[in-house]
Amino acid sequence: MKILITGASSGLGAEFARQYASLENELYLLARREEKLQKLKNELQNRCKNITLIVVDVRNFNELQNKLRVLDSFDIVILNAGVSLGHSNTKIPTIQEFQNLYDVNVLSQHAVLEVVLPKMVANKSGKIVFISSLSSLFTMPSAKVYASSKRALNAYAEGIAYKYASDGINVSVMLPGFIKSELTDKNDFTMPFLLETDEGVRRMKKAIEKKKRFYAFPLRFYLIIRLLNLLPSLLRQRIVNYIN
Ligand SMILES: NC(=O)c1ccc[n+]([C@@H]2O[C@H](COP(=O)([O-])OP(=O)(O)OC[C@H]3O[C@@H](n4cnc5c(N)ncnc54)[C@H](OP(=O)(O)O)[C@@H]3O)[C@@H](O)[C@H]2O)c1
Repeated sequence: MKILITGASSGLGAEFARQYASLENELYLLARREEKLQKLKNELQNRCKNITLIVVDVRNFNELQNKLRVLDSFDIVILNAGVSLGHSNTKIPTIQEFQNLYDVNVLSQHAVLEVVLPKMVANKSGKIVFISSLSSLFTMPSAKVYASSKRALNAYAEGIAYKYASDGINVSVMLPGFIKSELTDKNDFTMPFLLETDEGVRRMKKAIEKKKRFYAFPLRFYLIIRLLNLLPSLLRQRIVNYIN
């Protein structure tokens, strides 16, 4: 299989690469930090049919699309590149930070699909995996920009799933809680139900293989969020502000 993984230089993306490394698979690993990608390639190349590195900043939409345009169709596209602004209750995010986050977490996903999706549709097959977040279901005030970007991603993914189902395109949206990575290493609070990177990715890979349209985990964390969302909004607001 030909597999494109964005945000492959660290965290979940690098672990997806490790877990998809096999002699049947050709990996296309995309990120900005070339040395990290090269190190991962060195680690995995004996276990893979082929590894191609795509070094690009996904906010440079033209460059990103030009690099993808020359490639053949993919069997799996894992749209994983993402950033957060961390958690802050004191600082109002600047408009530049907001825009930067949306460029990576939302717009770049469309920039990728605009190029790769028509080829998948022509092949009448392919799998698209969106890496969203449990935070898209429940907005903590300290991470509202991030949460809103992932909620936007869910809506976009839903539309892609409905539109292209009859073209043989399978869409899965992953909604992880906390998983160890460079992104969560920055959090200075105790993260509930924190998973090790390999365990988190193993669970997502399994869900992708089962063609789950929507996979929110860990289950206990997801159920707590579902429960909180059932509460009257004033009570929910009190609880959220208390946790926050
Ligand atoms: N870890 C969690 O608990 C968790 C939970 C829910 C959802 N997620 C989501 O999972 C995804 C992966 O995050 P992670 O936790 O693995 O964090 P991470 O270790 O910080 O990885 C983020 C990846 O995105 C890439 N990236 C960021 N900005 C980019 C840009 N402008 N151009 C190209 N690539 C860029 C980074 O590569 P370069 O810096 O080399 O470009 C890196 O490979 C994100 O979408 C995140 O929102 C994570």
